[in-house]
Amino acid sequence: MKVSVIGAGNVGATCAEVLAHHEIANEVVLLDIKENFAEGKALDIWETSAINMYDTRVTGTTNDYSKTAGSEVVVITSGLPRKPGMSRDDLISTNAKIVKSVTEQVVKYSPDAKLIVVSNPLDVMTYCAFINSKFPANRVFGMAGILDTGRYKAFLADELNVSPKDISAVLMGGHGDTMVPLPRYTTIGGIPVTELIEKSKLDAIIDRAKKGGGEIVNLLGTSAWYAPGSAAAQMVEAIIRDQKRVFPVCALLNGEYGLKNIYMGVPVILGKGGIERIIELKLNDDEMKLVNESAKAVKEVMDVLDNLKD
Ligand code: NAI
Ligand code: 2OP
Repeated sequence: MKVSVIGAGNVGATCAEVLAHHEIANEVVLLDIKENFAEGKALDIWETSAINMYDTRVTGTTNDYSKTAGSEVVVITSGLPRKPGMSRDDLISTNAKIVKSVTEQVVKYSPDAKLIVVSNPLDVMTYCAFINSKFPANRVFGMAGILDTGRYKAFLADELNVSPKDISAVLMGGHGDTMVPLPRYTTIGGIPVTELIEKSKLDAIIDRAKKGGGEIVNLLGTSAWYAPGSAAAQMVEAIIRDQKRVFPVCALLNGEYGLKNIYMGVPVILGKGGIERIIELKLNDDEMKLVNESAKAVKEVMDVLDNLKD
């Protein structure tokens, strides 16, 4: 089972390391446009195999897509990360060109692959990969919700002094400041979160989770990679092992939640077929209002993409 990761930078290399370390695939190929960069990262990761006790073979290549041929899953992380003061949307024109050319190369060599997009602005780059791949939508989706709920759960675990393992949460919408964590669908060991925390504290945690990406950018001067790389690897695992995991994933909506022709975060079942089902929650009016606001923000950036010249 082969998995390729395009872009051997912070997120891509972390994702490859997690895939190898957990033996999620037999073979992981890292590809980057920067001469020798993926080769160097892959070699460093492979040299941990005898230390971390795994046998997943990790190799790197400079832009030779034939090495990615026959991948079951391809993770696309190529593109610029944001710097302090930038929003994810500021990256659109540069990253759209990168995601388009990468997708065209990837599909030539792996026509049956599932594509997981990570590059920002996430929802619109996933739409970009969908258009350029000409794949069915169940095979093209984006990683954001596992990261965003990961942040939300980490902050809740701190506040409540509980294990993050016992927190379950749903988050919807675009991967931006309008994302919609859903307290009504957040439980701690099966107990509704609202029974364990006062509203003002929960509101503050939700606000921090929504701005979680920016918090890291301000601390590091570039965006996060450990949590994003692990989150993408978790999606790969769900597909390769046909786990039918229920995750928030950026998916193409075709009437679900009253929305059409838009990529956005929704709960899905992820397995061997990629997105096997989009789950439609019975949202209340307040929740639906927030989801619609987030959809509007994503749609505006999708329109920018549609109006970009080649
Ligand atoms: P990075 O700068 O460390 O790595 C990006 C890599 O892409 C570089 O090594 C670069 O050489 C490579 N690249 C650029 N153009 C390429 C091309 N045409 N073909 C192959 N490789 C190419 O950036 P980092 O931190 O890994 O972030 C990558 C992307 O992921 C950014 O757009 C960032 O905003 C996004 N991101 C998305 C997250 C999400 O939740 N969806 C979370 C974190 C980052
Ligand atoms: C994040 O949320 C920047 O999208 C990236 O960390």
